[in-house]
Amino acid sequence: MNIIVPAKLNEAKDKMILLDQTLLPTETRYIEIDKLEDTWDAIKKLRVRGAPAIGVAAGFGIYLGVKDSKANTYDDFYEEFMEAKKYLASSRPTAVNLFWALNRMEDRLVKEKEKSLDEIKKSLLEESEDILREDQEMCKKISEYGLSLLKPNMGLLTHCNAGGIATSGYGTALGPMYLGHEKSYGFKVFSDETRPLNQGSRLTAWELNEVGIDVTVICDDMASIVMKQGKIDAVLVGCDRVAANGDVANKIGTSGVAILAKEYNIPFYVLGPTSTIDMETATGDDINIELRDSKEIYNGFGKITAPPEVKFYNPAFDVTDHKYITAIITEKGIVKPPYDENLRKIFQ
Ligand code: MRU
Repeated sequence: MNIIVPAKLNEAKDKMILLDQTLLPTETRYIEIDKLEDTWDAIKKLRVRGAPAIGVAAGFGIYLGVKDSKANTYDDFYEEFMEAKKYLASSRPTAVNLFWALNRMEDRLVKEKEKSLDEIKKSLLEESEDILREDQEMCKKISEYGLSLLKPNMGLLTHCNAGGIATSGYGTALGPMYLGHEKSYGFKVFSDETRPLNQGSRLTAWELNEVGIDVTVICDDMASIVMKQGKIDAVLVGCDRVAANGDVANKIGTSGVAILAKEYNIPFYVLGPTSTIDMETATGDDINIELRDSKEIYNGFGKITAPPEVKFYNPAFDVTDHKYITAIITEKGIVKPPYDENLRKIFQ
Protein backbone atom coordinates (compact mmCIF):
# COMPACT_ATOMS: atom_id res chain seq x y z
CA MET A 1 0.00 0.00 0.00
CA ASN A 2 1.13 3.51 -0.71
CA ILE A 3 1.46 5.06 2.74
CA ILE A 4 0.83 8.80 3.04
CA VAL A 5 2.88 10.48 5.74
CA PRO A 6 1.12 13.69 6.78
CA ALA A 7 4.17 15.19 8.54
CA LYS A 8 7.83 14.57 7.78
CA LEU A 9 11.10 16.44 7.50
CA ASN A 10 12.56 17.40 4.15
CA GLU A 11 15.89 15.92 3.09
CA ALA A 12 17.95 18.78 4.52
CA LYS A 13 16.03 18.36 7.80
CA ASP A 14 15.46 22.09 8.03
CA LYS A 15 11.74 22.12 7.19
CA MET A 16 8.66 20.07 7.97
CA ILE A 17 6.55 18.98 5.04
CA LEU A 18 2.87 18.85 5.93
CA LEU A 19 -0.07 17.62 3.91
CA ASP A 20 -2.57 20.47 4.30
CA GLN A 21 -5.64 18.48 5.32
CA THR A 22 -7.92 21.51 5.27
CA LEU A 23 -7.78 21.44 1.45
CA LEU A 24 -8.84 17.81 1.03
CA PRO A 25 -10.57 16.21 -0.79
CA THR A 26 -10.30 18.64 -3.70
CA GLU A 27 -6.64 19.52 -3.44
CA THR A 28 -3.61 17.52 -2.32
CA ARG A 29 -1.08 20.18 -1.36
CA TYR A 30 2.00 19.89 0.80
CA ILE A 31 3.22 22.95 2.70
CA GLU A 32 6.66 23.62 4.15
CA ILE A 33 7.08 24.81 7.71
CA ASP A 34 10.20 25.87 9.55
CA LYS A 35 8.88 28.16 12.27
CA LEU A 36 7.44 27.29 15.63
CA GLU A 37 4.53 29.70 15.10
CA ASP A 38 3.62 27.99 11.82
CA THR A 39 3.62 24.58 13.51
CA TRP A 40 1.30 25.97 16.20
CA ASP A 41 -0.94 27.44 13.55
CA ALA A 42 -0.99 24.24 11.47
CA ILE A 43 -2.08 22.21 14.51
CA LYS A 44 -4.65 24.78 15.64
CA LYS A 45 -6.17 25.12 12.16
CA LEU A 46 -6.19 21.35 11.59
CA ARG A 47 -3.82 21.44 8.62
CA VAL A 48 -2.36 18.50 10.52
CA ARG A 49 -4.86 16.71 12.73
CA GLY A 50 -5.59 13.34 14.23
CA ALA A 51 -3.97 12.53 17.57
CA PRO A 52 -0.86 10.58 16.47
CA ALA A 53 -0.14 12.91 13.53
CA ILE A 54 -0.34 15.92 15.86
CA GLY A 55 2.27 14.20 18.08
CA VAL A 56 4.57 13.60 15.12
CA ALA A 57 4.22 17.21 13.93
CA ALA A 58 4.88 18.51 17.45
CA GLY A 59 8.11 16.49 17.66
CA PHE A 60 9.38 17.93 14.39
CA GLY A 61 8.00 21.37 15.22
CA ILE A 62 9.87 21.70 18.50
CA TYR A 63 13.08 20.43 16.94
CA LEU A 64 12.81 23.02 14.15
CA GLY A 65 11.94 25.66 16.74
CA VAL A 66 15.14 25.21 18.73
CA LYS A 67 17.66 23.87 16.23
CA ASP A 68 19.01 27.36 15.40
CA SER A 69 19.08 28.50 19.02
CA LYS A 70 21.97 30.82 19.83
CA ALA A 71 22.09 29.65 23.45
CA ASN A 72 25.60 28.90 24.71
CA THR A 73 24.77 26.95 27.82
CA TYR A 74 22.58 23.97 28.51
CA ASP A 75 20.49 25.99 30.97
CA ASP A 76 19.77 28.72 28.43
CA PHE A 77 18.95 26.14 25.77
CA TYR A 78 16.69 24.26 28.18
CA GLU A 79 14.84 27.48 28.98
CA GLU A 80 14.27 28.21 25.28
CA PHE A 81 13.12 24.65 24.72
CA MET A 82 10.65 24.85 27.59
CA GLU A 83 9.20 28.08 26.26
CA ALA A 84 8.73 26.49 22.85
CA LYS A 85 7.20 23.42 24.48
CA LYS A 86 4.70 25.46 26.48
CA TYR A 87 3.75 27.38 23.36
CA LEU A 88 3.14 24.28 21.19
CA ALA A 89 1.27 22.61 24.03
CA SER A 90 -1.24 25.48 23.95
CA SER A 91 -2.32 24.71 20.37
CA ARG A 92 -4.95 22.05 21.16
CA PRO A 93 -5.95 20.56 24.53
CA THR A 94 -7.56 17.16 24.00
CA ALA A 95 -5.33 14.76 22.03
CA VAL A 96 -2.79 13.53 24.55
CA ASN A 97 -0.27 12.63 21.84
CA LEU A 98 0.66 16.32 21.58
CA PHE A 99 1.78 16.40 25.22
CA TRP A 100 3.18 12.88 25.04
CA ALA A 101 5.46 13.81 22.12
CA LEU A 102 6.56 17.09 23.70
CA ASN A 103 7.34 15.34 27.01
CA ARG A 104 9.26 12.70 25.15
CA MET A 105 11.36 15.38 23.44
CA GLU A 106 12.01 17.03 26.81
CA ASP A 107 13.02 13.71 28.39
CA ARG A 108 15.54 13.21 25.60
CA LEU A 109 16.93 16.69 26.11
CA VAL A 110 17.36 16.12 29.83
CA LYS A 111 18.97 12.74 29.24
CA GLU A 112 21.63 14.31 27.01
CA LYS A 113 22.40 17.12 29.47
CA GLU A 114 26.13 16.34 29.66
CA LYS A 115 26.60 16.50 25.89
CA SER A 116 27.46 19.52 23.72
CA LEU A 117 24.57 21.63 22.43
CA ASP A 118 25.30 20.45 18.87
CA GLU A 119 25.02 16.85 19.98
CA ILE A 120 21.85 17.62 21.91
CA LYS A 121 20.25 19.14 18.80
CA LYS A 122 21.18 16.01 16.85
CA SER A 123 19.56 13.86 19.52
CA LEU A 124 16.37 15.94 19.35
CA LEU A 125 16.27 15.39 15.60
CA GLU A 126 16.76 11.66 16.16
CA GLU A 127 13.97 11.57 18.74
CA SER A 128 11.51 13.34 16.44
CA GLU A 129 12.28 10.86 13.67
CA ASP A 130 11.86 7.96 16.11
CA ILE A 131 8.38 9.22 17.00
CA LEU A 132 7.41 9.06 13.32
CA ARG A 133 8.99 5.64 12.72
CA GLU A 134 7.49 4.11 15.86
CA ASP A 135 4.07 5.47 14.98
CA GLN A 136 4.27 3.68 11.63
CA GLU A 137 5.21 0.42 13.36
CA MET A 138 2.44 0.81 15.95
CA CYS A 139 -0.17 1.40 13.24
CA LYS A 140 0.83 -1.81 11.47
CA LYS A 141 0.46 -3.85 14.66
CA ILE A 142 -2.85 -2.21 15.58
CA SER A 143 -4.12 -3.01 12.08
CA GLU A 144 -3.16 -6.67 12.43
CA TYR A 145 -4.84 -7.01 15.83
CA GLY A 146 -7.88 -5.18 14.51
CA LEU A 147 -8.16 -7.39 11.45
CA SER A 148 -8.09 -10.50 13.66
CA LEU A 149 -11.51 -9.40 14.99
CA LEU A 150 -13.10 -9.03 11.56
CA LYS A 151 -14.33 -11.35 8.83
CA PRO A 152 -14.46 -10.97 5.04
CA ASN A 153 -17.39 -9.03 3.55
CA MET A 154 -18.28 -7.30 6.79
CA GLY A 155 -19.96 -3.90 6.84
CA LEU A 156 -17.92 -1.48 8.96
CA LEU A 157 -18.84 1.93 10.28
CA THR A 158 -16.28 4.58 11.20
CA HIS A 159 -16.54 8.12 12.52
CA CYS A 160 -14.14 11.00 11.81
CA ASN A 161 -10.75 10.11 10.33
CA ALA A 162 -8.35 7.73 12.02
CA GLY A 163 -6.52 6.76 8.86
CA GLY A 164 -3.10 7.16 7.33
CA ILE A 165 -3.29 10.94 7.35
CA ALA A 166 -4.25 11.06 11.04
CA THR A 167 -1.19 8.98 11.90
CA SER A 168 1.86 8.22 9.84
CA GLY A 169 1.14 4.81 8.46
CA TYR A 170 -1.84 2.56 7.99
CA GLY A 171 -3.85 4.54 10.46
CA THR A 172 -5.59 3.07 13.47
CA ALA A 173 -9.33 2.58 12.89
CA LEU A 174 -8.78 2.43 9.13
CA GLY A 175 -5.73 0.16 9.46
CA PRO A 176 -7.66 -3.14 9.51
CA MET A 177 -9.62 -1.92 6.47
CA TYR A 178 -6.38 -1.37 4.54
CA LEU A 179 -4.91 -4.69 5.64
CA GLY A 180 -8.19 -6.47 4.84
CA HIS A 181 -8.24 -4.81 1.44
CA GLU A 182 -4.77 -6.18 0.71
CA LYS A 183 -6.19 -9.63 1.49
CA SER A 184 -9.32 -9.08 -0.63
CA TYR A 185 -11.66 -9.07 2.37
CA GLY A 186 -14.25 -7.04 0.49
CA PHE A 187 -15.26 -4.82 3.41
CA LYS A 188 -18.08 -2.36 2.86
CA VAL A 189 -17.18 0.75 4.82
CA PHE A 190 -19.68 3.38 5.93
CA SER A 191 -18.11 6.69 6.85
CA ASP A 192 -20.02 9.15 9.01
CA GLU A 193 -19.70 12.62 7.51
CA THR A 194 -18.63 13.92 10.97
CA ARG A 195 -20.01 17.41 11.32
CA PRO A 196 -19.00 20.16 11.66
CA LEU A 197 -15.67 19.77 9.86
CA ASN A 198 -16.52 16.67 7.85
CA GLN A 199 -13.39 14.65 8.53
CA GLY A 200 -15.39 11.54 7.63
CA SER A 201 -16.50 12.69 4.19
CA ARG A 202 -13.52 14.89 3.29
CA LEU A 203 -10.71 12.71 4.64
CA THR A 204 -11.81 9.15 5.39
CA ALA A 205 -13.81 8.77 2.19
CA TRP A 206 -10.97 10.35 0.21
CA GLU A 207 -8.33 8.05 1.73
CA LEU A 208 -10.30 4.84 1.33
CA ASN A 209 -11.42 5.70 -2.17
CA GLU A 210 -7.81 6.42 -3.21
CA VAL A 211 -6.92 2.75 -2.67
CA GLY A 212 -10.19 1.36 -4.02
CA ILE A 213 -11.96 0.39 -0.77
CA ASP A 214 -15.76 0.32 -1.06
CA VAL A 215 -16.83 3.38 0.95
CA THR A 216 -20.26 4.96 1.44
CA VAL A 217 -20.59 8.37 3.08
CA ILE A 218 -23.58 8.90 5.34
CA CYS A 219 -24.64 11.96 7.31
CA ASP A 220 -24.14 11.58 11.04
CA ASP A 221 -27.87 11.22 11.65
CA MET A 222 -28.02 8.14 9.39
CA ALA A 223 -25.93 5.83 11.58
CA SER A 224 -29.00 4.43 13.29
CA ILE A 225 -30.78 3.43 10.10
CA VAL A 226 -27.78 1.64 8.58
CA MET A 227 -27.31 -0.24 11.84
CA LYS A 228 -30.98 -1.16 12.01
CA GLN A 229 -30.91 -2.33 8.39
CA GLY A 230 -28.13 -4.78 9.28
CA LYS A 231 -25.51 -3.09 7.14
CA ILE A 232 -23.01 -2.73 9.99
CA ASP A 233 -21.17 -5.68 11.62
CA ALA A 234 -18.64 -3.65 13.59
CA VAL A 235 -17.82 -0.03 14.43
CA LEU A 236 -14.17 1.02 14.37
CA VAL A 237 -13.06 4.43 15.66
CA GLY A 238 -9.82 6.09 16.72
CA CYS A 239 -9.17 8.00 19.92
CA ASP A 240 -7.66 11.25 21.11
CA ARG A 241 -7.22 10.30 24.74
CA VAL A 242 -8.05 7.12 26.63
CA ALA A 243 -8.45 7.56 30.38
CA ALA A 244 -7.17 4.96 32.86
CA ASN A 245 -10.69 3.56 33.32
CA GLY A 246 -11.18 3.05 29.56
CA ASP A 247 -13.33 6.13 28.87
CA VAL A 248 -12.42 7.43 25.41
CA ALA A 249 -12.33 11.00 24.09
CA ASN A 250 -12.71 11.03 20.34
CA LYS A 251 -14.28 13.27 17.71
CA ILE A 252 -17.64 14.76 18.65
CA GLY A 253 -20.41 12.30 17.82
CA THR A 254 -18.44 9.17 18.68
CA SER A 255 -20.30 8.54 21.93
CA GLY A 256 -23.65 8.67 20.14
CA VAL A 257 -22.45 6.03 17.68
CA ALA A 258 -21.29 3.85 20.58
CA ILE A 259 -24.67 4.10 22.31
CA LEU A 260 -26.42 3.14 19.07
CA ALA A 261 -24.05 0.22 18.54
CA LYS A 262 -24.93 -1.13 21.99
CA GLU A 263 -28.65 -0.86 21.19
CA TYR A 264 -28.18 -2.84 17.96
CA ASN A 265 -25.75 -5.30 19.51
CA ILE A 266 -22.87 -4.33 17.24
CA PRO A 267 -19.29 -4.51 18.57
CA PHE A 268 -17.73 -1.10 19.11
CA TYR A 269 -13.94 -1.09 18.82
CA VAL A 270 -11.57 1.76 19.69
CA LEU A 271 -8.17 1.58 18.02
CA GLY A 272 -5.16 3.62 19.07
CA PRO A 273 -1.49 3.47 20.04
CA THR A 274 -0.47 3.35 23.69
CA SER A 275 0.75 6.95 23.24
CA THR A 276 -2.96 7.87 23.27
CA ILE A 277 -3.60 6.15 26.60
CA ASP A 278 -3.24 8.57 29.47
CA MET A 279 -2.92 6.67 32.71
CA GLU A 280 -2.58 10.01 34.54
CA THR A 281 -6.18 10.84 33.64
CA ALA A 282 -8.48 8.79 35.85
CA THR A 283 -11.76 9.05 33.93
CA GLY A 284 -13.29 10.77 30.93
CA ASP A 285 -14.61 13.52 33.21
CA ASP A 286 -11.02 14.69 33.68
CA ILE A 287 -10.39 15.18 29.94
CA ASN A 288 -10.18 18.75 28.68
CA ILE A 289 -12.59 18.98 25.75
CA GLU A 290 -11.61 21.53 23.12
CA LEU A 291 -14.22 24.17 22.27
CA ARG A 292 -13.83 25.52 18.77
CA ASP A 293 -15.00 28.57 16.84
CA SER A 294 -18.75 28.63 16.26
CA LYS A 295 -18.12 29.59 12.63
CA GLU A 296 -17.25 25.95 12.03
CA ILE A 297 -20.93 25.20 12.63
CA TYR A 298 -22.64 27.97 10.70
CA ASN A 299 -20.07 28.80 8.05
CA GLY A 300 -17.71 25.84 7.83
CA PHE A 301 -17.45 25.61 4.09
CA GLY A 302 -18.41 28.97 2.68
CA LYS A 303 -22.21 29.02 3.00
CA ILE A 304 -24.06 30.46 5.98
CA THR A 305 -26.17 27.60 7.32
CA ALA A 306 -27.64 29.21 10.45
CA PRO A 307 -28.37 32.78 11.57
CA PRO A 308 -24.92 33.86 12.81
CA GLU A 309 -26.48 35.92 15.62
CA VAL A 310 -27.89 32.88 17.46
CA LYS A 311 -25.88 30.99 20.07
CA PHE A 312 -23.65 28.08 19.14
CA TYR A 313 -21.89 25.41 21.12
CA ASN A 314 -19.03 23.61 19.40
CA PRO A 315 -17.22 20.98 21.48
CA ALA A 316 -14.75 19.21 19.17
CA PHE A 317 -14.74 15.92 21.10
CA ASP A 318 -16.92 13.84 23.35
CA VAL A 319 -16.26 11.06 25.79
CA THR A 320 -17.53 7.55 25.21
CA ASP A 321 -18.16 5.78 28.48
CA HIS A 322 -16.10 2.59 28.74
CA LYS A 323 -19.27 0.54 29.24
CA TYR A 324 -20.04 0.95 25.52
CA ILE A 325 -16.61 -0.19 24.32
CA THR A 326 -16.18 -3.83 23.30
CA ALA A 327 -12.38 -3.64 23.12
CA ILE A 328 -9.52 -1.15 22.87
CA ILE A 329 -7.01 -2.28 20.28
CA THR A 330 -3.42 -1.13 20.78
CA GLU A 331 -0.05 -2.13 19.33
CA LYS A 332 0.45 -4.19 22.49
CA GLY A 333 -2.68 -6.23 22.01
CA ILE A 334 -6.46 -6.25 22.35
CA VAL A 335 -7.60 -4.90 25.70
CA LYS A 336 -10.99 -6.02 26.99
CA PRO A 337 -12.92 -4.97 30.11
CA PRO A 338 -12.32 -4.48 32.96
CA TYR A 339 -10.31 -1.62 31.48
CA ASP A 340 -8.95 -0.15 34.71
CA GLU A 341 -7.18 -3.47 35.38
CA ASN A 342 -6.31 -4.47 31.84
CA LEU A 343 -5.01 -1.11 30.62
CA ARG A 344 -2.67 -1.02 33.59
CA LYS A 345 -1.39 -4.48 32.63
CA ILE A 346 -0.26 -3.44 29.15
CA PHE A 347 2.02 -0.79 30.65
CA GLN A 348 3.66 -3.22 33.04
O1 MRU B 1 -10.18 17.35 15.41
P1 MRU B 1 -9.42 16.23 14.78
O2 MRU B 1 -9.68 16.07 13.33
O3 MRU B 1 -7.95 16.30 15.11
O4 MRU B 1 -9.99 14.94 15.51
C1 MRU B 1 -9.44 13.70 15.18
C2 MRU B 1 -10.12 12.55 15.80
O5 MRU B 1 -10.99 12.71 16.64
C3 MRU B 1 -9.63 11.19 15.43
O6 MRU B 1 -10.66 10.27 15.41
C4 MRU B 1 -8.60 10.75 16.47
O7 MRU B 1 -7.61 11.73 16.63
C5 MRU B 1 -7.97 9.48 16.14
S1 MRU B 1 -6.76 9.67 14.87
C6 MRU B 1 -5.93 8.22 14.65
